[in-house]
Amino acid sequence: MPYINENYLKLSAGYLFPEIARRVREFAAKNPEAKVIRMGIGDVTEPLAPACIEAMHKAVDEMGRRETFRGYGPEQGYDFLREAIAKNDYAARGAGVSADEIFVSDGSKCDCANILDILGHRNVIAVTDPVYPVYVDTNVMAGLTGPADARGEYGGLVYLRATAENGFVPELPTAQVDVIYLCSPNNPTGATMTRPQLEKWVAYARKHNSLILFDAAYEAYITDQSIPHSIYEIDGAAECAIEFRSFSKTAGFTGTRCAYTVVPKALRGKTVTGETVDLHRLWTRRHTTKFNGVSYIVQRGAEATYTDAGKQQTKALIEHYLANAAIIRQSLTIAGLKVFGGTNAPYCWVQTPRGAKSWDFFDHLLGNAHVVCTPGAGFGSAGEGYVRFSAFNSRANVIEAMKRVAEKL
Ligand code: MLT
Repeated sequence: MPYINENYLKLSAGYLFPEIARRVREFAAKNPEAKVIRMGIGDVTEPLAPACIEAMHKAVDEMGRRETFRGYGPEQGYDFLREAIAKNDYAARGAGVSADEIFVSDGSKCDCANILDILGHRNVIAVTDPVYPVYVDTNVMAGLTGPADARGEYGGLVYLRATAENGFVPELPTAQVDVIYLCSPNNPTGATMTRPQLEKWVAYARKHNSLILFDAAYEAYITDQSIPHSIYEIDGAAECAIEFRSFSKTAGFTGTRCAYTVVPKALRGKTVTGETVDLHRLWTRRHTTKFNGVSYIVQRGAEATYTDAGKQQTKALIEHYLANAAIIRQSLTIAGLKVFGGTNAPYCWVQTPRGAKSWDFFDHLLGNAHVVCTPGAGFGSAGEGYVRFSAFNSRANVIEAMKRVAEKL
């Protein structure tokens, strides 16, 4: 019998979204007539942009002909996609990221987890609370934390509270931390970090030789012109930050799978004996050893998001989801709830009525309105008393769900 990774036994609960799915399945089995509307997991509902479909069809045809067939591609991604990303997502915003600092992958969730492969075991790690659970759970699995306490918080992690009082953007840590996970626009709160706030974090990281793991998977939802889309829009960030980006929420690729991570060549880490090491080199080594690249067909689809037609069509998708978010915000506010986020993000973070616990309110809405949200407590103890509504849905479903929620509050 093999020994297991006992760190898994420290995980205080099942992964949030399968647990929600389990409760919904159980409810649906008992109430087959109920028309359940899912506003829990942030999964896109609208079809891929025609420009992507056209590019993927063309790529499929290429794969069917000997002259244009391709086998293994470059592990880091094809140059055509890396160059399109560098030009459109970075150069166009005045951020100097070169194509060879971009690593194409099958998802930001995987990259956020995999990045721990190249980091040591002595780091003090900070996460926000509430937080996208993947950041925490993967640290637990890698053995970088102690056990969970009664609140479900793991020993050794530094929790930075994001509350209504601080606009859901936490204060800087008061002591040295080596690795900091930041997510803007934020999952789950929908809060965004302003330029001055990001400058403060970059200054902290540079002063303390910390590494920021910046999750910008929702950057395409930023409507406020003054809010940076990338941490590299801040001077000095290339020396202290890794950025995760995805086509999932931007172009509807949750099922198609394509994302990328930027590891700047200027980034350094150190060995326990104090030797300086280039993180780009380590990530290249990891990526080329453990990954064989995203399929050619999918990368052609992702590239198509940067054509004129692709830009227009993906913008329309984002506008659709943002208009849903506006409906959620407005409906729940009129119904008397306190709603945050949803203007630069596809998530609305909603205070539960009468101080209800998150999971109780989740059960109430599922049982009475047949609407699924995500309990805030699933994102950390500071999420207790909140639920998250995802704007990823059809317009008709959002309107119907909001009507039902208002009636059943
Ligand atoms: C969410 O609902 O928080 C997202 O689906 C998470 C993810 O993208 O993995």
